[in-house]
Amino acid sequence: MVTDSLSQLLKNGDVPSHVAIIMDGNGRWAQQRGLPRHAGHREGMKSVREAVEGSIQAGVGILTLFAFSTENWKRPPREISALMSLLELYARKEKADLVSQGVEVKVLGELDRLGTLTRRAVDGIMEDTVVGKSLRLNLMISYSGREEIVGASRALAREVSDGRLDPDEIDEARFQDMLFTRGFPDPDLLIRTSGEMRISNFMLWQLAYTEIHITPVLWPDFTRQHLFSALLDFQGRERRFGRVTSS
Ligand code: IPE
Ligand code: IPE
Ligand code: MG
Repeated sequence: MVTDSLSQLLKNGDVPSHVAIIMDGNGRWAQQRGLPRHAGHREGMKSVREAVEGSIQAGVGILTLFAFSTENWKRPPREISALMSLLELYARKEKADLVSQGVEVKVLGELDRLGTLTRRAVDGIMEDTVVGKSLRLNLMISYSGREEIVGASRALAREVSDGRLDPDEIDEARFQDMLFTRGFPDPDLLIRTSGEMRISNFMLWQLAYTEIHITPVLWPDFTRQHLFSALLDFQGRERRFGRVTSS
């Protein structure tokens, strides 16, 4: 079944170069089993592995995972510290495998808000995976799409007030250059698990023309098979970018 859909999507060609995932539903997964929420977050690490390995198999070049939003800082301190410990654990435990799989990890977001230990773990995994060539994995942590846009505006305003930039020179390319995602293409496909029909402040600039696939599967139940199904769904889409279909 897994190999069937993988070979089908490879045969179809047109595998998206950049896939982004809003990994949602860990709390509900745990709740359904009478477990504490952090048990769902822990189980969700397996799905991260599935998404990474599935992306490599399918030939996706960039995988961007929404792991922790700026708004998630408003959760109970116990849940936040469980999430941060898991991030440190992921960085430590998965590093060797990520290196051998050729994955380059970038952690993007307001990293100044992370504690010292988490920051160290994050810096370590970025340094050690820098040579990875088979997949670029962006982990979005302490990330807010609106904050990112405000930050880019602030940086451009500073260049203008320093006399280094003429306001008339500000265009989309220059703006994009100020975002965390500078240098790589917008996501072709966004997957959200757990059935929620919203963006939740994720990549507001970059998702302008991204195809959206929402699955009811809760993140801890997500496997590479679900990724392959989403990629097959993407291959059936007609992307028009505002134009009309040529007949
Ligand atoms: C996603 O799962 C993980 C994070 C947002 C950090 P949730 O914790 O949001 O799980 P639900 O949505 O409450 O089920
Ligand atoms: C979005 O999920 C953030 C991440 C997956 C990291 P949330 O669970 O925080 O989003 P809402 O609250 O359902 O919109
Ligand atoms: Mg949620």
